[in-house]
Amino acid sequence: MTTAVPTAPAVAESVVELRRLVAALPGPVALVPTMGALHEGHRTLVRAARERAGSVVVSVFVNPTQFGPGEDFDRYPRTWDADLAALAEERADVVFHPPVEEVYPAGALGVTVDPGPLGSVIEGSVRPGHFAGVLTVVAKLFGLVRPDLALFGEKDYQQLTLIRAMARELALGVEVVGVPTVREDDGMALSSRNRYLSPEQRATAAAVSAALRAGAAAGPQGPDAVLAAARAVLADHPGLLQDYLQLTDLDLGPAPTAGPARLLVAVRAGSTRLLDNTHVDLHRPTQPTGDAR
Ligand code: PAF
Repeated sequence: MTTAVPTAPAVAESVVELRRLVAALPGPVALVPTMGALHEGHRTLVRAARERAGSVVVSVFVNPTQFGPGEDFDRYPRTWDADLAALAEERADVVFHPPVEEVYPAGALGVTVDPGPLGSVIEGSVRPGHFAGVLTVVAKLFGLVRPDLALFGEKDYQQLTLIRAMARELALGVEVVGVPTVREDDGMALSSRNRYLSPEQRATAAAVSAALRAGAAAGPQGPDAVLAAARAVLADHPGLLQDYLQLTDLDLGPAPTAGPARLLVAVRAGSTRLLDNTHVDLHRPTQPTGDAR
């Protein structure tokens, strides 16, 4: 019996090579931008891309401009050999793996994408400049690959919302597709940063998704009950320091009193930040029916 060996994707380390490889791809072309350290969540994005497109391009690039001073850019996991093997298994066609100078050449004037007011709230209030860095590199990748569609995880819901807004408001001609978060058996959202957690922190970190589930289950009781239920779960885990717990509408504006909403949370376990979010269906609290006599 012969075992099928996955064909390695073509790898481009330069913009010239990327353009040459992409030009030969049958369309529609899907792009999956990543920072590497690939896990099942990324693989799910590549599979979803493959289902929707004729060709799949994946970028593996740890983008320095989205990390603030003192953040984990230097220690961000870089696992190139394993990433390439995973992308061969998932049958990606082209992988863009450039050095920093290829994406940010010397002598550039430093034009960036301004995320607008949504860039400085929720996650943006904790990481100033982060979303300008994300949008700038994603806009650049869109310009280099010129994909028909691009796929991003819902785990980074604010990032997904901003990239969607960028594509729409700057008329970039790319369909932005959000893909549901992939979770461990205990509900923990997959993230490349989970590998920083000690076994004790990992056990406690399951409370983040538990808090979201408790919040979503309280949806029928209204917005205050959602936040109270999620807060109560987090309060039982003093090792998780809360950066924010916020209920918003689906576009990250103020929470509605009823209807669909999003609950977003970020905590720190030691020096590791954990982000997660979930959909919530809010209903107005039922008023006690008074005796009308
Ligand atoms: O979500 C990520 O991994 C990054 O923010 C992205 C979208 C690849 C941009 O660097």
